[in-house]
This record gives sequence, structure tokens and C-alpha cells, in this order.
Amino acid sequence: MNGFNTRAIHVGSEPDSLTGAVNPPVYLTSTYAQDAVGVVKFSDYARGDNPTRAALEACLANLEGAKHGVAFASGLAGEDALLRTLSPGDHVILGRDAYGGTYRLLTRVFGEWGISVDSVELSDPDSLAAAFTDTTKMVWVETPSNPLLHVVSIAELGVAAHDHGAQLVVDNTFASPYLQQPLALGADVVVHSTTKYIGGHSDVLGGFVATNNDELAAKLKFHQYAIGAVPGPLDCYLLLRGAKTLGVRMDRHCSNARAVAAFLCDHPSVERVYYPGLASHPGHDVAASQMSDFGGMVSFTLKSGVDVAKKVCESTSVFTLAESLGGVESLIELPSAMTHLSVAGSLLEPPEGLVRLSVGIEDLEDLIDDLARALSL
Ligand SMILES: Cc1ncc(COP(=O)(O)O)c(C=O)c1O
Repeated sequence: MNGFNTRAIHVGSEPDSLTGAVNPPVYLTSTYAQDAVGVVKFSDYARGDNPTRAALEACLANLEGAKHGVAFASGLAGEDALLRTLSPGDHVILGRDAYGGTYRLLTRVFGEWGISVDSVELSDPDSLAAAFTDTTKMVWVETPSNPLLHVVSIAELGVAAHDHGAQLVVDNTFASPYLQQPLALGADVVVHSTTKYIGGHSDVLGGFVATNNDELAAKLKFHQYAIGAVPGPLDCYLLLRGAKTLGVRMDRHCSNARAVAAFLCDHPSVERVYYPGLASHPGHDVAASQMSDFGGMVSFTLKSGVDVAKKVCESTSVFTLAESLGGVESLIELPSAMTHLSVAGSLLEPPEGLVRLSVGIEDLEDLIDDLARALSL
């Protein structure tokens, strides 16, 4: 089973040995009968393990090319479990553009715990080199990033991190494992908000952390159990179901986004379009070398100010005004006032009038008509 779609459909979803059911059962159980005291068949308690969760973990680890994968109740729960492998006094380098919640977790939760964070333009080797300290343990990058679609070379970043004894963590939420596999490029850890493209239908929250490092995987598994931010079996089932169509959905997200980006580039009201598939994007060549396509996210600014940007966000009808991304339906939002409110006043603050689109898989003509109408109001 070499092909991505074949693996997405079959790994973790082998026919049920008892009934032959072609989908994994949803094991709604909180505990397991023991054969004798301490003698268990599968696990002793569902926080420790659940077969539906194990099926999801097997599938997603395979898709990321990882030896180990650990599922969590949300992307941030996975990030939390990973960051708990640090110790007070450790230092983290974060890209200059990242999901606001990641920044909030690092600064306001782990900051209190004695972790320091510097936010750096990771594609600039000099800034990156200057940011390392003796205590730097992690370099954390989103590529493409949220919401500015910055792209950084994972291979180069991996070398720089390793030269300084740090781990490279890649948040692969925007690309999904269909478009990019960071571990193969030199990353140590991959994190996902599976809420997004992997779930794909805006109906479930989830997180996933993948690694080839046995010691780190054991710590993550321990945190999953000891802290308990586990996804429920129904959530795991939905995520596994979503993963099966990830490839076909991503193909369509990418082709729709490419066309939407081209439309926006030609629109007289639009000032700048952020999409790594555009030849003019500063990270285009790197994206082309480490991704198989450019993804479904497009951001843009308008020549007029934030008030018009807000009006555009409130005027679409096929694009729904909402946070989140990666579902089959198109979404529009204003990061500075919505998803990235928590980075206000920091180096990560996005342009006030930036509009972010999660381009869905609807008919392209309807998406373009919708944007054209909203931009003409
Ligand atoms: C890039 C990225 N990483 C992580 C997260 C956090 O994931 P969750 O909302 O599932 O906790 C998000 C959420 O929007 C995100 O966009």
C-alpha cells in the first residue's frame, strides 16, 4: 500500500476481525473488563487507550510517515502535551507568523511556567542564527503559516535547529500530510489541528502529534494519559472518516484556491494577495520544492482600509463569516479581529485589514461570483 489515498482509506480501517465490518467500530466504552486483577486484553481504561483512537493514530501516523502518532482532543491540547516535554528555563523560537492560540499558549501559559519565546523571521538565516540561545530547545514553524501564508524551508530550518541542539516542530495544519510530510524533510515533530483539513467537515475538534523519536513519543503518550486531553471515540471516528477523503478534497481545495488567488490578483480593489502558489510569492520556490501543491488558504488586503475589509467579510454568502478552516465549505474572516486577536500588539500581529479565506470545495464559479459581489459593494 504505497499510494497516499490507498493508505488513507485502509490503514487503521482493516475489516473488523469479529464481524467483517469495513469500518472500525466506535468503541463507546470508558473501561474494559479484566481477565484477572491487572490482566487486560487491550487497555485498563479508555483515557489510556481506545481502539477507535488507535485506528485513527495508526492512519495519521502512516500518512505523516511517522513511527508514532498521538491523538488529542484539539490541536492546542496536542501542542500543550508537546510543550510539557520542555522544562522551566527553556527557550522556544517561533516563526513571525503563527496561529494566535499557539502564541497565547506559549506566552500566557508556558510563559508563566518559565518558558521564554522569541518570535523570529525564520526565512532570514541571520535573524534565526541570532535568536538561538544556550537554552533553545525548540524551533516552532508553521509553513505555510496562519494567516500570512509565509513559507520556510523545512530542510534548512531542521539543519539550523539541530546545529543548536534544538528540535524542529512543524505545524502542518495548513498543508496537511497530503501536500507536505515534514518528518521526511528533517523535522523532528509534526503537530496538527485535525479540526481542519483532516477532519475536513467542520464538525469535530482534534489534534495530532507525530514523531519518529521513541523517547518523545513515550512522553507524549504519557501526557495524553496523565493529563487526559483525549478525543472521544466518536470524534476519532469522524476524523478517520475525514482522513479517507483528504487527498481528493485537497486536490479540489488547491485548484479552487489557485483560481481564487488569480481572480483576486486581477481585481482592482485588491492591494496584495498572499498565496504560495503565486510565482510572485517570496516563498513560492521553496513551497514548490517541499509541497506537492499550494493548499487551500488565501489571504489578501484591500486598497481601502479595515472598514471595507470588514464589510467584505460580512457581505459574502457562499463564504461563511467564521473562524477555523479546512472544511468543505468556504469561510472568510478578519484575522486581526478574530483568529489572531490574541497576538494584538505583538510582532505576530497581522495587517489590520487582512482578509483570510479558507477556500472550500464548492463550485468555483459560485465562489468567484460571491467574492466579486462582495468586493463590488
Ligand atoms: C495552524 C493552527 N495550528 C493549531 C491550531 C489549534 O487547533 P485547535 O483549534 O484544534 O485547538 C489552529 C487553530 O485554528 C491552527 O490554525
